[in-house]
Amino acid sequence: MKKSIKVFAPATVANVVCGFDVLGFAVNEPGDEVIMNMVDKPGITISKITGDNGRLPLDPKRNTVSVSVEHYLKSIDRTDVGFDIELHKKMPIGSGLGSSSASTVAGLFAAKTLLGDETDPVKLLRFARKGEEMACGHGHADNVAPALLGGFVLIRSYDPLDVVKLPHPKGLHCAIVFPDVDVPTREARQIIRNKIQMKDAVTQWGNIAGLVSGLFMNDIDLIGRSMHDVLVEPTRSILIPDFYKMRDMAMELGAVSFGISGSGPSVFAFTRDEDTAKRITQRLGQHLAKLKINSFTYESSINDHGPRVLG
Ligand code: HSE
Repeated sequence: MKKSIKVFAPATVANVVCGFDVLGFAVNEPGDEVIMNMVDKPGITISKITGDNGRLPLDPKRNTVSVSVEHYLKSIDRTDVGFDIELHKKMPIGSGLGSSSASTVAGLFAAKTLLGDETDPVKLLRFARKGEEMACGHGHADNVAPALLGGFVLIRSYDPLDVVKLPHPKGLHCAIVFPDVDVPTREARQIIRNKIQMKDAVTQWGNIAGLVSGLFMNDIDLIGRSMHDVLVEPTRSILIPDFYKMRDMAMELGAVSFGISGSGPSVFAFTRDEDTAKRITQRLGQHLAKLKINSFTYESSINDHGPRVLG
């Protein structure tokens, strides 16, 4: 039996603009890597974290990866086993790209694989949500579900948890720009209005239904028309430098849609091809540089697989 494994899990774009807390999709890069070693002594240790600039705790009681793995081990009655974890952050923290989800999902998938547990990966979701709860005070599933299942995922219901994997047009590409400013999810959730008007709700659910229909119908125009958010974006966009200017630039360069990734500050655009995605990331990166804001950019197709064993 394998005693050590290296797993990659992908970054994710939660909300997909109009589907706050209920829609998300996975990308091919960036993502995080976890190396998990089975050890003789029961319990979980974290021996190394790289790429985090010292921001993440090595204490297994305070780290989202070890905490969710511990919940998982308890649930399957395997507290007899021990794991040592190395976490290699290959993506920015606090970026709105599902950084904690990528680490947590990589850890859970590594543990499940090492134990030869054949249960449906969907069952790992509730442990992954524990990690989210710890990271930002709320167990939303729109990052962890696509990180775990790949592709587009709809959280049809939280109680009981009901997730649905959605199809998507093949050619769909994504341009992602992370302006390096701090927007913690916990705070980005606190500023959202918690009362909404019926007319806004009607607009929003029309758009969510339109987006999901467009995914099923391979209708990229319908996807683009539907990706508007009247509930959350008006508030959160304030935290993102030149959000509306960046949106105009992306749309002028041929984006299908543009919006905030998760709780921000990353923004993303859907495009019909990789070249358009590259033009957008380059242009927005240059714009942010003029504002003296450092940025990280990525172009990706949709990741349909979720976590991947690297070795
Ligand atoms: N749906 C969550 C939010 C995602 O918008 O707060 C966080 O990445």
